[in-house]
Amino acid sequence: MKNVKTQSSDELATKLGKLMEDQLKDIYWAEKALTKAIPKMIKNATSTELQEALENHLAETEEHVQRAEKIFETLGKKATAKKCVAMEGIIKEAQELMDEADEGVMCDAAIIAAAQKVEHYEIATYGTLVAFSQTLGLNEVTSLLESTLEEEKNADATLSEVAESAINIEAAGEPQE
Ligand SMILES: [Fe+2]
Ligand SMILES: [Fe+2]
Repeated sequence: MKNVKTQSSDELATKLGKLMEDQLKDIYWAEKALTKAIPKMIKNATSTELQEALENHLAETEEHVQRAEKIFETLGKKATAKKCVAMEGIIKEAQELMDEADEGVMCDAAIIAAAQKVEHYEIATYGTLVAFSQTLGLNEVTSLLESTLEEEKNADATLSEVAESAINIEAAGEPQE
């Protein structure tokens, strides 16, 4: 870590802006990757409730990509994606979980586990971005980021509800007649 004692507040703001831009490039890559990963989850899901939740969030995710582009534009920067190694790993793990799970209720449970990790990563990133943006007084950017953050939180809450209602072990375990 560098010595910051001699830095002026202008210099710090510039550095925070740079860090913010970096985080934005990271989540822009992640959102684009998710537009390809979520359809695979939908294909493997069996519960209609889970499929619907994922389809709704796929549509929102496509909007998140566009919203990220709007944020770059508002900041006067070119929209650039920087590979998010963390999201790449979460998506890879999701694929492994789906490959290993039995079909049906267990695969749905695996999808929900993976999808909630995705949402929590996004919530953490957008939460940080909102804080940086507020600190820098970027009101328009803050409100765009807050819209996405809200949708990520709602997606996470919906997945929790689906987990409670669709992953019904007793019903799934009943002997078939
Ligand atoms: Fe998103
Ligand atoms: Fe999301």
